[in-house]
Amino acid sequence: MDIKTIKKEVKKQINSAETLKDLDDIFKKYLGKKGKITQILRSLKDLSEKQKKETGKLANEIKKELESAVKEKKYVFQSADWLASKFQDIFDISVPSKKPLVGHLHPITLVRRKVEEIFQQMGFSVVEGPEVETEWYNFDALNIPKDHPARDAWDTLWLKPESQKLLLRTHTSPVQIRYMEKNQPPLRIIVPGRAFRHEATDASHDVQFYQLEGLMVGKDISVANFKAIAKEFFQRFFNKEIKVRLRPGYFPFTEPSFEIDVQCVICGGKGCSTCKQTGWLELWPGGMVHPNVLKAVGYNPKFWQGFAFGMGLDRLVMMKYKINDIRLFYGGDLRFLQQF
Ligand code: PHE
Repeated sequence: MDIKTIKKEVKKQINSAETLKDLDDIFKKYLGKKGKITQILRSLKDLSEKQKKETGKLANEIKKELESAVKEKKYVFQSADWLASKFQDIFDISVPSKKPLVGHLHPITLVRRKVEEIFQQMGFSVVEGPEVETEWYNFDALNIPKDHPARDAWDTLWLKPESQKLLLRTHTSPVQIRYMEKNQPPLRIIVPGRAFRHEATDASHDVQFYQLEGLMVGKDISVANFKAIAKEFFQRFFNKEIKVRLRPGYFPFTEPSFEIDVQCVICGGKGCSTCKQTGWLELWPGGMVHPNVLKAVGYNPKFWQGFAFGMGLDRLVMMKYKINDIRLFYGGDLRFLQQF
C-alpha cells in the first residue's frame, strides 16, 4: 500500500478511536512486529537510494505522529476514566434531578386576555392609559364636581407635592377622555388596567384592583346596544346562556346610569351564598356617556352618543374561579397561585 494512503488511514483511525483498546489495536496494526509501517521500514534495504530516502522519511514521520497521537489520546481516555470513577463515588447518577420551577400566568392575566379576546371579536380595540393621573382626567373632564366626596382623602391617593394635584387614578374612566381627545367617533374601545383607592381592605376591597373600562360612541348607539353587548360578552365568557338586567344607578359621567346584573352563574338564579340569595350578581356599572363629558373632549352631544362601563376585572376572576378573597391576588402566596 502506498505510504501516503497509510498516513491518511492512520489519522482517520486515531480520530475515531473510542477506547484505550482501540488505540492499542491501531498501534499494533501499524507499528507492531507485523505492522504495516514496521514492514515498510524493514524492506527499505531493497529500495534504491532515492526511494529509500523518501519512504524512510515518511514512514518515520508516521511513526512519530502515531506515537504521539496515541499518547495524547491515552491521556484523555485515562483522565476521563479517572473522573468517571471519582464521580461515581460522589454522585449517584441514578437519582432523579430536581425539576426546574416553571412560571405561569396570574389568574387576572388569564381572564384579562380572555376578556380582551372576546371584545376584540366584537370590534373593540384595546387601549391603555397612565396609572398616575391629573385631576382633570380623573375628575373634572368626567363631570365630577370639585366638592364630590370621591375627591377627598378617603378615596384618593394624592401624590406629593399635593400642589401638583397628581394622583393614582381611582378608576380607568380617565382613559375615555384621553382617547376621545385624540380620536373621532365612531369608536369602540376597552381599557384594562389598575385603579387605586384609599380604603380599608377586606375580602372584597383592596387598595389596588383591576378594572375594565369600555366605551362605544357613534351616531345612534343606544342602551339596547349596551345591553346586547353585555349579554353577548357574558355568554361568551361563561360559555352558556345568561340573563342580564339593568337597574338604575348613578355616576356623574353617565346619564342615565345603571348597574348591569347578571344571573348568578353559580346557582343559575335560584339563590345561593355567592349572590346573597338574590339570584343576581352585580357586576357591571355603566350608562350613557354624559353630554358634559362629550363636550369636555370637543364632541357635539347633539351629534354623538354612546355608552360607557367600568367592570371590576378582579370580581370577574373571582367569579370564574370561585375565589372568595380579593387579597389573595396580590399576596404572592404560591399555594394560591400554583392552582392556575
Ligand atoms: N368608573 C366607575 C367606577 O370606578 C365605573 C363606571 C365606568 C361607571 C364607566 C360608568 C361608566 O366605579
